[in-house]
Amino acid sequence: MHKKWLLLITVLYTLNMQAQKYKDLALTPPMGWNSWNTFQANISEKLVMQTVDSLISSGMAAAGYNYIVLDDGWMKMERDSMGNLVPDPQKFPHGMKAVADYVHSKGLKFGLYNCAGTKTCGGYPGTRGYEYQDARLYASLGVDYLKFDWCSSEGLNAKEAYTTMSKALRVAGRPIIFSLCEWGNNQPWLWASEVGELWRTTGDIYNCFDCIKDHGTWKGWGAVQIMDKQKDLRKYAGPGHWNDPDMMEVGNGMSENEGRAHFSLWCMMAAPLIAGNDLCGMTKQTIAILTNKEAIAIDQDSLGVQGYLYQQKDSVDTWIKPLKNNEIAVCFFNRSKHPVTISYNWKENVVNDTLSKTMIDFNAITYSIRDVWAKKIMGTTSKVLATVVQPQDVVMVRLSIEGIKKSKK
Ligand code: GLA
Repeated sequence: MHKKWLLLITVLYTLNMQAQKYKDLALTPPMGWNSWNTFQANISEKLVMQTVDSLISSGMAAAGYNYIVLDDGWMKMERDSMGNLVPDPQKFPHGMKAVADYVHSKGLKFGLYNCAGTKTCGGYPGTRGYEYQDARLYASLGVDYLKFDWCSSEGLNAKEAYTTMSKALRVAGRPIIFSLCEWGNNQPWLWASEVGELWRTTGDIYNCFDCIKDHGTWKGWGAVQIMDKQKDLRKYAGPGHWNDPDMMEVGNGMSENEGRAHFSLWCMMAAPLIAGNDLCGMTKQTIAILTNKEAIAIDQDSLGVQGYLYQQKDSVDTWIKPLKNNEIAVCFFNRSKHPVTISYNWKENVVNDTLSKTMIDFNAITYSIRDVWAKKIMGTTSKVLATVVQPQDVVMVRLSIEGIKKSKK
């Protein structure tokens, strides 16, 4: 009898541990790098190694970027005779395990891409009908992150198709972040929190700050257009399950102010921070944006609440993101192409966010205001904040009570 109880407790403990290892994969939004935005299918073992080295030497790894994800183009055009996916031997002459091992040897994690349909968007073999086989391959290679696309998916039910892959990954036995990429077509925010850790909410980002690129059968969206599409989705995000407004274009030719605004808005939205630029030879400005620890702390805040658009006035959007310990981040984003002077009276702007149960009345409590980009205290909420927001730029601040205590010492 005694032994039976012991056995039962051991089995329950093991099951619980197993469930746990899949639960906490993305308590904060994932951070890393993805090859697609800059390199499309022009990827290789050499690119991965150079990228890993630059991620480390630039300080990005130390700032939290830890997933190196190879997007479309890593495979040969056909599966082998056993139905296995085969890495392109020209691009990856030592195979994919060697690539994953290199990434792991530097303390980082490794991700790959495939698609729920019969072919990927680039025309490489898709996973439809091979879910369990492909999942076993990924686990054997040491994959930690799978981005799963939606091309050639005619006739498929998105929830079912992604659930099948999610189960296959579980059965394969390795904790793998599952990144759904069906472009928001089937409202994944309504069902995907049980299926994966993040889901794309829109079509592809296009490398511009504020534009729409018409590709004919589909459109690419600038950073501003993508941001505008997130407004109603915040209630679906939280620790372990995130809205994904796509990989970033910071450092891909945007001006410094545009890059800073793009990055800040992604942080306000608790977006996954997946850099999409060439990490080798980044400018100082790009590195400074991508590694701003105070901005990243806002994105990665453990409360896990996506920010919201509080007010639109004189072409300035005011975003608010409640943080842990009753702190908040506020981001003033100037959409226009001319500087705008703002005069923000905290006392007339009570924060009342029912989603996160955050209620702040600045008549009753005073916060210190820390400028996240200038990296200095701007004063307190007892006074009107008068400042200039540069064209297509932001002023992003963190309000805290701790800051007040410190400055009084
Ligand atoms: C789709 C995805 C992109 C990228 C490409 C690859 O367009 O949305 O992010 O993965 O496919 O072909």
